[in-house]
Amino acid sequence: MEAGDARAAAPGPARGRAVASGYHWAMTEPTRENAWALLTEFTASQALRRHALAVEASMRHLARSSGVNDAAQVERWGLVGMLHDFDYERYPTEEDHVFRGMEILRERAWPEDLVKAIGGHAFYTGIPRETPMEKAILAADELTGFVGACALVRPSKRIADVPVESVLKRLKEKSFARTVDRSYVLKGAEEWGVPLADLVSLVLASQVPIADALGLDGSPAPELPDRPVPPEPPAP
Ligand SMILES: [Fe+2]
Repeated sequence: MEAGDARAAAPGPARGRAVASGYHWAMTEPTRENAWALLTEFTASQALRRHALAVEASMRHLARSSGVNDAAQVERWGLVGMLHDFDYERYPTEEDHVFRGMEILRERAWPEDLVKAIGGHAFYTGIPRETPMEKAILAADELTGFVGACALVRPSKRIADVPVESVLKRLKEKSFARTVDRSYVLKGAEEWGVPLADLVSLVLASQVPIADALGLDGSPAPELPDRPVPPEPPAP
């Protein structure tokens, strides 16, 4: 029986619910409020919460730089950044991380385009990156963490003081921020389709307006509580 037949056959309120829904009633609204609530439910680590905000800002800037100017779409790219590692604290292994997150997002009826974009941010999932938003999360993720590390080794500890050249040099230093897998950074730039220096420049710029929240303005990072939701990152 088709869904339409089931709706037609169902009497009374059940029919009303089904007809009114088109299943739409169950979809989670992809808002910053809902994303922050999900992130903080799963993530106590302040460093991971900062990483979520930092990658959100990078994603929004990559969206704008590639010609996305609809505010709702820019926000959507940002949400992929905010949520891409939300399951990591609870499920840190390659067997679980990303896969469990995708399951949870689907159980909670997050839109599929977000789920797939998040799914593609680790090579080992085998999920291809096809849309610009899917390519952007690979381009943004590891490099965002890396430029933060570059800021913290400077005397000023300010991201605004980090030159593109020094990030490029550090990327070649295997011993620096060795947990950042350089192959992700290089492949990210390649798939995004810009020279690495241009991508570094975009990611650096995206962090400056929220440097205070990230502890990258020369002061220690403030606590990021469950509430309120941190303010939307301003455009650089
Ligand atoms: Fe990440």
